[in-house]
Parts: sequence; C-alpha cells; structure tokens
Amino acid sequence: MSDERKILVTSALPYANGPIHIGHLVEYLQTDIWVRFQKMRGHRCIYICADDTHGTAIMISAQKKGVTEEEFIAEMSASHQTDFTGFGIEFDNYGSTNSPENLEQCNRVWKSLRDADMVVEEEIEQLFDVEKGQFLADRLVRGTCPKCGSKDQPGDNCGNCGETYSPAELVDPISGLSGTTPEIRKAKHLFVQIEKEHAFLDEWIQSGSVPTESANHLKGSFLNEPLRAWDISRPGPYFGFEIPDSPGNYWYVWFDAPIGYIGSTQQWCDKNGEKLEDWWNSESTEIHHFIGKDIQYFHTLFWPTMLKTAGFSLPTKVHIHGFLGVDGEKMSKSRGTFINASKYLEHLDPNFLRYYYASKLSSRVEDIDLNVDEFVAKVNSDLVGKVVNLASRTAKFAGAVGLSDKYPDDGGLFAEFATAGDPIAEAYEAGDFSKAMRQILELADKANPFVENNAPWELKKDPDKAQQLQDVCSIALNLFRQLSIYLAPVLPDIAEKCGELLGEPITNWEQSKTPLLGTPVNKFKHMMQRVDPKKVQAMIDESVVIEETAPAVIQNFDDSDEALKAEPIEDEISFDDFMKLDLRVARVVEANEVPEAKKLIQLKLSLGGDETRNVFAGVKEAYEPAELVGKLVVMVANLAPRKMKFGVSEGMIIASGSGKKEVYMLSPDEGAVPGQRVH
Ligand code: MSP
Ligand code: ZN
Repeated sequence: MSDERKILVTSALPYANGPIHIGHLVEYLQTDIWVRFQKMRGHRCIYICADDTHGTAIMISAQKKGVTEEEFIAEMSASHQTDFTGFGIEFDNYGSTNSPENLEQCNRVWKSLRDADMVVEEEIEQLFDVEKGQFLADRLVRGTCPKCGSKDQPGDNCGNCGETYSPAELVDPISGLSGTTPEIRKAKHLFVQIEKEHAFLDEWIQSGSVPTESANHLKGSFLNEPLRAWDISRPGPYFGFEIPDSPGNYWYVWFDAPIGYIGSTQQWCDKNGEKLEDWWNSESTEIHHFIGKDIQYFHTLFWPTMLKTAGFSLPTKVHIHGFLGVDGEKMSKSRGTFINASKYLEHLDPNFLRYYYASKLSSRVEDIDLNVDEFVAKVNSDLVGKVVNLASRTAKFAGAVGLSDKYPDDGGLFAEFATAGDPIAEAYEAGDFSKAMRQILELADKANPFVENNAPWELKKDPDKAQQLQDVCSIALNLFRQLSIYLAPVLPDIAEKCGELLGEPITNWEQSKTPLLGTPVNKFKHMMQRVDPKKVQAMIDESVVIEETAPAVIQNFDDSDEALKAEPIEDEISFDDFMKLDLRVARVVEANEVPEAKKLIQLKLSLGGDETRNVFAGVKEAYEPAELVGKLVVMVANLAPRKMKFGVSEGMIIASGSGKKEVYMLSPDEGAVPGQRVH
C-alpha cells in the first residue's frame, strides 16, 4: 500500500511505585484504541511502553518491603502487565527503564548534551538525613512554612499559602525517612541549560505537535521568560543509573524515563530484526506520545530539547488528556473511587470501561468524569441494547441457511454505513473518540428499526416467507458486522466474536465496504452481559480504604467476665425511669473521718454557688479524706435523705467495686463543673 504510514506510539511509562488504577487506564485505553485503529487501517504501527523504575520513592518502598529494588520493580512490572492484559491493552514491547538498552540510550543522549556544552555544574544546598546517610528529596521533608508559619508542610511548597521554596528554607525541618532533624549540606548537581534551545522550543511549540491550549499556556508561562536550567543529577545513594563522567551522582529519574521510550524501542528492534534509526531517526516515521496533562512540561520542553540535541526525530504529536474524576470528584480512597485495575476486573467486564472511556474522550485537554449511573446506563443501552442485540435477535434465524447469496435491497442502509466509515475514521484519527462513538450509535439507531419493522420472529412463523427471513437476517448481520468493524479498536472482543459468527475474522477497516454473502452463520455465542449495578457497588465498597489514622479501638483486650457474672445486669427500665435519677457533678469541699464508723467518710459536696450536701460515703477503706478534697465526683442528687447514726445523708456518690478496698469513685473528665446534670 503506497499510503502506508509508519507510526511509533507511546504511553507515559507508569511509575513502578504502585498498581495501575482506573485513572491510569484513561491513558492506556486511549492509546490502545488509537493504535488498534491505525493497525486496522493497514498502517505499520508499534505501541511501545515500559515501567518507570528509578528514583527515591522506589528505594523507600523496596526498603519498607524488605526486598531489593530489583525485586520490587520486577514484581510491580509483572502486576502492571497482568492488569494491562486484563484490559486488552496490547503493547508491541513492554520494557523497563532499568534495562541495558535504556542505559545505552541514556549514555548516548548524555554524550550529545556534553558535546553541545549544555551541561553545567553547580553547588546547591540540600537537606541531608544524617541517620540515613542520604540527601532528601523535596517531598521527603516536612517543616514549618517560612512564609506563613503553617506547620507540617512539604519541602517544595506550602499547602496553606501556596508559597514555593527550597527545602533548605523550611523552618524546623523533619526528615520523612527517620524523623530526625536533617542538616543542610552542599552538594554538586549537574544542570542542563535548556535556555540554549529557547528559540527552537518557541517554534516547535507552534508547529502543531502540541495541542493549541497547551502551546498557548507554555507560550504565556515558561517560554515567556528565560528557561531555568534543569537539575538532572542526584547524589547517591539513589536507585538509578550512575552518571559515567560524574561518579557518585545519578541521573534524576525524569532524565532516563522518557529515554525509556527509545530504550524499549531498541528492545523491540532487537527482537524483530529492525533498526532503531528507522523508527527514531527517520523522516518517514511518525512519533506519537500519549500523556496526561500533569507531565506535559517534561514532554514539551525537556524532551524535545534532549531529542534535538541527540539527533533523534522530534515527536510528531504529543496527545494530552485530562484527569479522571468519579461522580464529579477527585478519585478518593475513602469514598472507594480510587479503583485499582485488578479490583475492577474482579467485578466487571473490561469492555464496559473501554467503551465508556471511548464515549467520553475527545481530542481536547479536558478532565473526564466517570459518572457511575451514566456508566451503567450507557453500556446497557448502547452496547447491549443497540449493538449486540442486532446480532442476538437475528443470528438464530439465519443459522440453518446462512447468509443470502445476493445482497438484498435494504433501502440503501449498507451503502450508507459504508460511507460513514470515512468520517468515523477521521474522528478516530483526531483522537475524538466520543464523536466516533456518537456516529456509530447513530448508525445503530438506523439498523434497529429495520429489524423491528421486518420482525424476523414473525417471518419465521410463515414457511412461505423463508427467503424474506433469510434476507432480513442477512441485512441485519451485515449491518452488525459494519458496526463491529467500526467498534473494533474499542471492542476487539466483539469484533472477534462477530468474525467467529460470520466465519471471517475482522482485521481491516476496508472490510466494512463489502457485505458478506452466501456464507454460513455459526451458532450465536453470548457476546456481552448487561452491567449489573450491584457489581459496580461491590467494586466501590471493596475499594474503600480507611485513611491511615490510628483506629479508635483497642485491638487486644482481655478483661475477665467475673464482675458481670457476680452481679448480672438488672431488669430493663424505661427511659423515663432512668430520667428520674438526677445525677449531678459535685465537688468535694470537705472530708472528715467518722471515728465510730469503719467504712464511712463524711463529705461536704458543693453543687455550685451556696448549694452543698452532706453525704456519708462508704469509701474509707479505699481513700484517705485528704485525697478526696477538691475532687469532682458524681452524686445522686434527688435521693430521699436518710437518717443515720451519725447524721443525715443527703445523697450518694457513684462508685464501682465490690466494697472493702475495692472502691472506685467515678469522676468526670476535665472541664465538667459542679451542678451539671449527668445523663
Ligand atoms: N512515570 C511518569 C511518566 C514517565 S513518562 C516518560 C508518570 N507515571 S504515573 O504512573 O504517575 O502516570 C502515568 C500516566 O498516567 C501519566 O500520563 C498520568 O498523567 C496518567 N494518570 C495518572 N493518574 C491519572 C488520572 N487520575 N487520570 C488520568 N490520567 C492519569 O507520570
Ligand atoms: Zn505557607
């Protein structure tokens, strides 16, 4: 094919510090759909990705887990790849930034930067954790904001007043690694002077390779002033590649991460007998990066500068998507909307999410919202109700006879669907998947009335209408096939099942132009279940993570049941009965021995103001009068006075225990005042 394009496509390399979640999937599904589309169009397209494995966060996570960094990233890579496979995301190569191929490419880019005199050395002040023997990344220090004085702020900017500063400026800094106070030490860092390529960047940004809104933003912000040199090195210990001409220093993770695109391509080339130059140094190859808006700065300033300096091709296009929210809010662990890919797969069909995201994605840098009710409704009404139904309602009637030999008169539907393939392809090409999905569903809305009006289930009843029945089913199944072809990048499973049903695999867009005729129709196999909202809810419920505050429970208590056995709980009383009991906070203002009584102490209790009560309390064996004075206690204030040998007792104080030495007076917590009612 003369118009065959050569296209290299990447997604951002997922960070190896955690599992894949539904936010990540926006990007990997978007890219996978675009790649599958290009392949169906007959282009040579390869999809390259890798795990991003270096940096301080990985070191700390590996340490916490008690494994080496290599073990940690190997396990994470396996888990990422399992998740991707589960969602039907098919890479041509999935590598790692911690690979020999990547090291080789890093060396190559580095040498070019040195040769171009782009690298300078500078001493900077950094916080050093003496106990751990390591310099601290900005996010590993917390302290008091130097501007507003707000406590417990991270080392790069204040969450309260928004001030940005260097960690060395924090007041009372504390290391997140050891909890000790770090000291300020000078360290040598290497910087890339990207300002030298300012003019080039000004121009490249406007070349159409970057979405207009991002280009405008860059033009008005970073590119509006001299570009700050980029700190590209970290002193050891650091999990990464040591810089060959600067022993003891390592490339910062964001240096070797994008080079990982090239390293992973190299791996693919080695496996497939291809040359790297044909993909990264060739006028005739397109390079497309798919990334989220949070990392555009790296991909539109540093990355093109590095590529240009090293003599690689520049990206043809950087596709930038927004962030995923759920039901109008940020993904949240406490609400259960921070859903891991593996958790999703335990409950739901990956095709649901593939379709839902496709129906939401446009070519603009917009955040997308996963509305749970809409997710259920859309998948059920669009996919099950309008697409799959076309086949499930007709395939069974065509099973015995197959498809008609000659394409019957369908009033122009097939031709109309075939023509619609062009605008649908345009929408896919532009990354405007939501538009493509709308166009496809409009076609489905024309196919369904055709089936309803011709009611094959009625034709079936009349043996004289066998030909008409075969024709109606042949039309419906061919229309279904066209829809399956158009949906194939999004729903490869449906396309595959359609291929099995009609005996010809779906591999190419052009298949939508010609109907299938005179072939058998296989037994209809179930294609897609409806979304069960209960499963969606179960997935959310199981994703709830209680934030890591100390739980308000005692985990292990082993109190005996003796007390309860000795004195079982009394018969139930009504609330009104309970309210008859007037318990009050009181202060002991006087305590006297009662020499004649073994167990009693005479207390003068104040209820505030001039109100006092005389009470004889049986606590002598457990308390000294002196230790009681000043104490707050709880008394029964409306008990009928009782005349005793030594005087009148005007109430009781509340205590637990079996008597004798075992008496425990109840005292209210800090803040209670005499006279307050207790209920
Ligand atoms: N390791 C870097 C990328 C290096 S590329 C040379 C990184 N990794 S990441 O795991 O944090 O994110 C990977 C991609 O997923 C990024 O493009 C990021 O924008 C995207 N997303 C992560 N969370 C997301 C959402 N909640 N919503 C949409 N995309 C999100 O960044
Ligand atoms: Zn502040």
